[in-house]
This record gives sequence, C-alpha cells and structure tokens, in this order.
Amino acid sequence: MRDDITNIAIDDYLASLMPPRPAPLADLEREGYQKGWPLVGPVEGQLLYLLARMHGTREALEIGTATGYAATWLLRAIAPAGGRLTAIERDPARIALARTWVTRAGFGEQFTIHQGEWFSELGQLAGPYDLVFLDILRHLSGEGEALRALAMCVPLLRPGGLLIADNVLCNALVLEDDAAPTVRGIQEFNRAIMSHPELESVIVPLRDGVGICRRRDH
Ligand SMILES: C[S@@+](CC[C@H](N)C(=O)[O-])C[C@H]1O[C@@H](n2cnc3c(N)ncnc32)[C@H](O)[C@@H]1O
Repeated sequence: MRDDITNIAIDDYLASLMPPRPAPLADLEREGYQKGWPLVGPVEGQLLYLLARMHGTREALEIGTATGYAATWLLRAIAPAGGRLTAIERDPARIALARTWVTRAGFGEQFTIHQGEWFSELGQLAGPYDLVFLDILRHLSGEGEALRALAMCVPLLRPGGLLIADNVLCNALVLEDDAAPTVRGIQEFNRAIMSHPELESVIVPLRDGVGICRRRDH
C-alpha cells in the first residue's frame, strides 16, 4: 500500500501538471489555501469540469458548497451552454463568500444557493438534475446519515445522471474495521453505491477519494 508521503507527493505532482487557472479561480485557490477553507483543489476541480462537460450537464446541484470553488469549476463547464448550478450550504459566511467568488468568475446569474441543513433543503428540491456533487460526507456523523443522503440524491437524478461524491476514502480511514461513526457511514455509503440497483459506480482514489455513479436509464 502507498504511504501518506507517497499519496501527498502524487497529489502535488498531479497539481503541478495543471495549466494555470484563470484569475478568480487562482485567487480563490490561493486565499483558500492560506485561510484553510475547504476546497477540492485543481485536479479534482478539473475532474468535475471534464465530467460535466463530457456528460453535457445542464442542471447541476452541489451539496456543501463552502466558498464556491468546486461550484466555479462546474459552472465553467455548464454555464456556457445555458446550464445552471443550485447549491446548498449551511454556513452564512461561506455563502456570502461563494456568491462573491462565483459572481467574480462571471457566473452569478447561473448560481442559486440555498442556506440551511442539507436534508431540509434537499427535501424541497424537485430536480431532476443531470449531475449532483455531494461534498458533505465527512460532516455526517449521525447513524445512517450518509445512506440517507444517497437515498435522497438518487431520485433527484435524471436517468443517465451523475452522482459524484467526495471524500469516500476518508483519508484511508475506510480501511479500518472499527471506524468512527462518520467513517462507518462512508463505508456503508461506498458499499451502497457499488451494489445499488439503480447505479453503476466506480471509486477513484484521487485525493481523498471520489465516487462516480451513473443512474441507470433502463
Ligand atoms: C468540504 S466543504 C465543501 C467544499 C466545496 N465543495 C468546494 O470544494 O469548493 C463542505 C461544506 O459543507 C457544509 N456543510 C457541512 N454540513 C452541512 C449540513 N449539515 N448542511 C449543509 N451544509 C453543510 C460545510 O459548511 C462546508 O462548507
């Protein structure tokens, strides 16, 4: 198994190959790293961008948007073709930052953010979405919460739609037998996406692990 140092070196190597990002994204990245804001980073940002582009995503949803970094990557892919991103975030200060950064990137009109807890906000959304990016798994400590998130996301996807989930390897803690509740929830989530009757899925060991699922259309 690769050790932590090797994993970090590979992440740094992949990031070093990335072409420069345009100004608002590069500025957000720099400030985010300085201030310890959570963000997926340029390599996973590029993965989100490419998946959304290749998939022809129009309507996207992000659950846990923080300061709008991943949102900006997604909007770069979908906004030029008339797509829109809806987001959910509970922290008002982060919502203000996300609005500022996304507007600075030129996508303010295509971005709607709902303030509140993920489950109540998600319950109000009708969908269908072409792509859902679930980025709160490491925050879910309640029993069955990660499975509940999955159960609520799948019906919101149109057939053929993509569910992308971040942090599904949880810093390799998913390998532990006697894991903490949050990690146990992610282990259950991973088993569920890999055997879900409505999904075809893969887990990519990029950064903290990215689950990529497609809702079947038969
Ligand atoms: C990992 S960060 C998102 C990073 C963002 N996707 C990006 O890469 O730019 C997770 C976000 O989810 C939010 N969050 C955590 N628990 C939540 C909950 N129960 N309801 C709504 N938002 C929540 C946190 O405030 C945090 O900003």
